[in-house]
Amino acid sequence: MTDLEKLESETLNQIAAADSEAALEAVRVGALGKKGAISALLATLGRMSPDERKTQGARINALKDVVTERLAGRRAALEQAALEARLKSEALDVTLPAPPSALERGRLHPLSQVMDELAAIFADMGFSVAEGPDIESDDYNFTKLNFPEGHPAREMHDTFFFSPGADGKRKLLRTHTSPVQVRTMLTQKPPIRVICPGRTYRCDSDQTHTPMFHQVEGLVIDETTHIGHLKWVLEEFLKAFFEVKSVNLRFRPSFFPFTEPSMEVDVQCKRQGGEIRFGEGEDFMEILGCGMVHANVLRNCGLDPDTYQGFAFGVGIDRLAMLKYGMPDLRDLFEGDLRWLRHYGFRALDFPTLAGGLSG
Ligand code: PHE
Repeated sequence: MTDLEKLESETLNQIAAADSEAALEAVRVGALGKKGAISALLATLGRMSPDERKTQGARINALKDVVTERLAGRRAALEQAALEARLKSEALDVTLPAPPSALERGRLHPLSQVMDELAAIFADMGFSVAEGPDIESDDYNFTKLNFPEGHPAREMHDTFFFSPGADGKRKLLRTHTSPVQVRTMLTQKPPIRVICPGRTYRCDSDQTHTPMFHQVEGLVIDETTHIGHLKWVLEEFLKAFFEVKSVNLRFRPSFFPFTEPSMEVDVQCKRQGGEIRFGEGEDFMEILGCGMVHANVLRNCGLDPDTYQGFAFGVGIDRLAMLKYGMPDLRDLFEGDLRWLRHYGFRALDFPTLAGGLSG
């Protein structure tokens, strides 16, 4: 066997034995690379006589061609094998349901959903959202809202008080969202149109009361707003919220220290089994408190009641959520039970809009 024949059989054996693309590349470099065996042979051609070069050159080039061709063949075979192995390991049954993404699995609490719905409804009527702290001063929660010192209405709220501070004054957990009215009037010039959703606290606990609950306050102040506007806003709000064509409201005289006149509002409804429908039926259900902002409150907040007037209303958000989404027990809202949340919760990206449908 000549040296060339030996080199050829060795190289072809190595190519056949290469079991990975990396191993094959090593064989290629060993034969055809800059310092490879065949390249070294080709480099000797220049030193040969023309006759020798003719015969040897043809042989060496033939060897180079065979090796190049085998390398390409082996590479294609290895690539094919790798592809097949990958296809096998990545087999996907397209008939299986797609596993839900983390985003899909997470749920928005129905109260968050309802607050987003309220913001969308009132934004459409030109209201913005105002916020205040859960820990309030007695002054903002009661005094500026026209609750006289020692008035029984302060007791009616079952207030959680903190121990007196250095100034001798007791802070408290706000008992309603109405202090945000005060904060808004003290910092914004009329015309004012805000809703103030948030947590509120009263020392009370049974099937329909929890020590922490949620309210949304509405406040409109300008020079001409009257009870007719209040009635229209409440009707539009309740129609949009309950997604019904019409609602029938009943206004009953009531008392709140910060409004005059004060009213409680009932919505006409039909109770059937466990279900409640609005806009029809013989029953009425109390749903919110409202009234024209009391002159004393305007004065306490630096507004002249001879120039400015307006209305306010307060609604329990938990109650709204329970009525709209059929949740029977208030306490479930605050249990943090995942099964309940999966059932009553909302998808995070289904943001409520009036155009797209509030509850999706
Ligand atoms: N703050 C009142 C309550 O919690 C509700 C209310 C708000 C009534 C605004 C009238 C006007 O009972």
